[in-house]
Amino acid sequence: TPHLARSSAGTLTLDGLPLADLARRFGTPLYVYSQAAMLDALAAYQRALAGRPHQICYAMKANSNLAVLQTIARAGCGFDIVSGGELARVLAAGGDPSRVVFSGVGKTAAEMAQALRAGVRCFNVESVSELDRLSAVAAAEGAIAPVSLRVNPDVDAGTHPYISTGLRENKFGIAHDQALAAYRHAASLPGLQVVGIDCHIGSQITQVEPYLDALDRLLDLVEAVERDGIAIHHVDVGGGLGIRYVDESPPAADHLVGLLLQRLDARGHGHREVMMEPGRSLVGNAGVLLTEVQYLKPGDAKSFCIVDAAMNDLMRPAMYEAWMAIEPCVSRSTPPQRWDVVGPVCESGDWLGRDRSFAVEPGDVLAVLSAGAYGMAMASNYNTRPRAAEVMIVDGAPVLVREREQAQALFSGEKLLA
Ligand code: LLP
Repeated sequence: TPHLARSSAGTLTLDGLPLADLARRFGTPLYVYSQAAMLDALAAYQRALAGRPHQICYAMKANSNLAVLQTIARAGCGFDIVSGGELARVLAAGGDPSRVVFSGVGKTAAEMAQALRAGVRCFNVESVSELDRLSAVAAAEGAIAPVSLRVNPDVDAGTHPYISTGLRENKFGIAHDQALAAYRHAASLPGLQVVGIDCHIGSQITQVEPYLDALDRLLDLVEAVERDGIAIHHVDVGGGLGIRYVDESPPAADHLVGLLLQRLDARGHGHREVMMEPGRSLVGNAGVLLTEVQYLKPGDAKSFCIVDAAMNDLMRPAMYEAWMAIEPCVSRSTPPQRWDVVGPVCESGDWLGRDRSFAVEPGDVLAVLSAGAYGMAMASNYNTRPRAAEVMIVDGAPVLVREREQAQALFSGEKLLA
């Protein structure tokens, strides 16, 4: 069942609720999420992994609203975190720290200690010097840190260079040809216990092959490491599965997982616990950003549709030239025109969509689709713009899950000089 739909009268709805009504009631810019859509997306992974030892760790950087985390935690899922701040959010949302993996190239000693005290399941370590630091921090805490090495499998995920992470030239992970030595080093350190291996090759991946190639490279290493007498319990294949923004056709999550499990079985690794770190594919298509049209500025070269959402609310178009669908929440019967949809921020890069065709008048509400991932999570306060409010539709009713930010709150920590 599609969560986003347009009625025969031309009204865009999410889980049956007209989006224009939500914009009027809660104001704009406004993020709206369908809880049911998130749970559906998660269920596809869970279905495919059922009956296998597994742990899904939602990469919460995609959308870290507490109600989103709570929804996902209650569905039995863990979290992939990349900062002490994200760990604090997991705990505030009632998430289980023993289902948390801690990723990221730059963990500080304080973050390591915080995670050890909370009892996270695993540290995904990205360099040899991080191994040394983690061992020292664990020893000082009187703890043993469970570690997995994030290996860079050097496969091309075929995605945007800014969100591709599995190539040799990326800053992420430990190079495949140095991984065995790194495992030996990890096993020799007193504060560490090797528990797994992981990789993450990029984001918005729309093909199966890069995953299978990466898995093969990982399993080659598992075999080499275990020949050395170091046991590896789990294999974490990372996240990265893409969603449809325009005409992409990524594999369905259950299809992808099925193929990965087949490959594990075929290579004799079917007994291993499988871990995954999906972000975008759980929440991306579950959310929209609503924005009200302020002004129309028709011109010879370009016509501008100026809206009240901007690059600070939704950075993806400005940052990656990402294409995100934009649709009127109530369609008009007048002929469509071409518009560049732009925000009020003082940057030429402040656009949400270019050369979009629709009929629109000031006061209309537009929806930017597939904005549930890396939307609010990447929002900033540039131009001293308070961040948008967030609403989650739960059992057919809208719930305000984040209040609209107030301007005063943005400078409340600042000090005037004496
Ligand atoms: N695991 C690790 C270690 C990651 O770095 C990421 C995302 C994920 C999992 C989840 O990837 P996903 O399933 O969401 O693709 N801001 C960019 C995307 C950056 C992704 C960063 N890492 C965008 O808006 O497209």
